[in-house]
Amino acid sequence: MIVVTGATGNVGRPLVQSLTGAGEEVRAVSRRSPEYGLPEGVRHFPVDLADAESLRPVLEGADTLFLCPSGELLVSAGSPEALVKTAQSAGVERIVLLSSQASQTRPQAMSHARLREFENVLIGSGVSTTILRPGGFASNTYAYVPTVKSDRTVFAPFGDVGLPLIDPADIAEVASVALRDSSHAGNTYVLTGPARISPREQAAAIGEAIGAELKFVELTREQALGTMLEFMPEPVAEGTLDILGTPTDEELAVSPDVEKVLGRAPFSYAEWAKRNSFVFQ
Ligand SMILES: NC(=O)c1ccc[n+]([C@@H]2O[C@H](COP(=O)([O-])OP(=O)(O)OC[C@H]3O[C@@H](n4cnc5c(N)ncnc54)[C@H](OP(=O)(O)O)[C@@H]3O)[C@@H](O)[C@H]2O)c1
Repeated sequence: MIVVTGATGNVGRPLVQSLTGAGEEVRAVSRRSPEYGLPEGVRHFPVDLADAESLRPVLEGADTLFLCPSGELLVSAGSPEALVKTAQSAGVERIVLLSSQASQTRPQAMSHARLREFENVLIGSGVSTTILRPGGFASNTYAYVPTVKSDRTVFAPFGDVGLPLIDPADIAEVASVALRDSSHAGNTYVLTGPARISPREQAAAIGEAIGAELKFVELTREQALGTMLEFMPEPVAEGTLDILGTPTDEELAVSPDVEKVLGRAPFSYAEWAKRNSFVFQ
């Protein structure tokens, strides 16, 4: 049985679908109940990962865990060590961690210190581990939805800096394979999309997907920070803006790992925009 944390998020939701589609027994964890139906047979557990012990009853009978640290857990809430110890003592034998590419590319960054800690605790724990290090998610551009709907306009910083954004559906597929196939134990995968795309090009792709011409307005870093602080802790927002504005060579590069694991190329941003066009209409 597989426990999926972050089960209502951009990765967790398609992951639960993928695992149940493959015939796995799944338990879904997040603090709030999902606003939509889960696949038949999947039970939801409202648990805050900041309190590791509250995860214990959910883990009863589980051998595998998808660990998705998120929100305040990326800064100061909870404890990576307590979570991993709880999982091990509950009988979990295999953990797939959703980390970030920046845990490796930004070794000094406060924004990713917690994810480095999760990686190190897992590696030191002896539990069979696969680490997923995605770059920026295509779903971050849901942030454009309100102004695309109201004014047919995309507001974003660093308009011409392109990054190989990854479709969360691809992360979920890689996670699904790694959770079910122990031959991925010990591996770390860097997950990116197939090509770089700048915010200005993202606006064009969304416009194409919804059949409308969108305006693009470049924000200053300070303006963008103001909006991001509504959704994420400050160190994470600052770290994200560093990546968006001044990516390293590794962050600009397209990784072969999605194709290596799935045997197919990752989805493009345009494909993501098309599949999610209903949200922007
Ligand atoms: N977005 C990116 O560009 C990016 C890039 C690299 C890595 N990542 C990593 O991927 C993770 C997931 O990103 P995402 O965009 O998929 O986030 P998301 O869609 O907001 O999903 C977060 C999930 O975690 C749950 N959650 C949050 N805090 C929790 C807590 N304390 N206890 C239990 N569940 C909690 C949320 O549900 P509730 O709020 O109801 O609990 C939700 O199900 C990030 O946290 C980050 O570490 C993201």
